[in-house]
Amino acid sequence: MAVNVVAIDGPAASGKSSAARLLAEALPGSVYVNTGSMYRAVAWKARRLGLDPKNPDPEKLASLLESTSMRFVPTPEGRELEVDGLLPGDELRTEEISAGASAVATIPAVREKLVQWQREMAEGNRIVMEGRDIGTVVFPDAKYKFFLTASPEERARRRLIQDGGNPSEEEIARVAAEIAARDKADSSRAVAPLRRAEDAVLIDNTGMTLAETVELLCEKIRRKVVLPYRVPYADTDQMGVVYYANYFEYFERFRNELLRACGYPYRVLEQEGIAMPVIEAVCRYKASARYDDELDITGFFAEASGVKVKIVCRIYRAGQLLVEGHTVHACVDMKTGRPTRPPRFVRDLLEPEN
Ligand code: DC
Repeated sequence: MAVNVVAIDGPAASGKSSAARLLAEALPGSVYVNTGSMYRAVAWKARRLGLDPKNPDPEKLASLLESTSMRFVPTPEGRELEVDGLLPGDELRTEEISAGASAVATIPAVREKLVQWQREMAEGNRIVMEGRDIGTVVFPDAKYKFFLTASPEERARRRLIQDGGNPSEEEIARVAAEIAARDKADSSRAVAPLRRAEDAVLIDNTGMTLAETVELLCEKIRRKVVLPYRVPYADTDQMGVVYYANYFEYFERFRNELLRACGYPYRVLEQEGIAMPVIEAVCRYKASARYDDELDITGFFAEASGVKVKIVCRIYRAGQLLVEGHTVHACVDMKTGRPTRPPRFVRDLLEPEN
């Protein structure tokens, strides 16, 4: 698991660049990487060399990249992308370069090279990386994954306000249509289309301020519990895979850590007179785990209604979901043996299932 990576994906103008930049400032020692600017830089360099970035020639772009260097450098305006020792700055953000970036981003050789560089940027660094395919392709095993979105109208309004001025309803509708068309192009292309990774937390920030979005991201990061587990021989069966019933024990290991991370280890709950026996357990098997596999067991409190608590659990290997399931617990007052309301902290920590 890439424990040093926060991956943020989402459509154009969803606020992910600003949120990722502020998040990197809030997380000690983290650097912010805007991968969209790398695709823009390819279009920018192609344009400088007299190529048409909107109708890119894959072979020419591949050879152009062979003699290109990109790195993010600190500038008075924040971290900026340096291309072959030059700072293109605002030249990367013109309409022509936006359209060119969208076109060059469909070329497999370009994506391959940029993904390689993006992975190298995480070596020895804590990074907050933002783009379209970070949680799905670049770092499918990132510890923290988010998919940020907002309604097309809200995104159009933000884009227009960012460009200055007080947009009319017609302008908002026009830009919303352009944004929707670009979303369609980004999410329907054959290579690395924009989509939410299964395990990414979906955040629709329509109606939220930037500060609220960043606070929510920080809170989700603080709360995330992942238990690493290496499969011993003792857990496998004659077919060499983890015996199906063992996953329920893995769920329990995870629950223990989840409660501990919340500040209420199960033992403390029992000392306070609350037991949480399992009344339902569900497990869906998608792929097998084998001896010596390094698993990441994660999950969250999904529901608390009446006297019941539902805990979802998911088990991954290098970002691939192997098993998902849940347990439902009844909260019981150990003195009287009667059902009781779930502890307050559980109700405060509920996460929607997505
Ligand atoms: O985020 P942005 O608008 O600066 O991105 C510019 C273009 O690059 C956009 O059309 C999508 C594409 N892109 C991509 O395909 N993969 C990424 N990881 C980032 C951006």
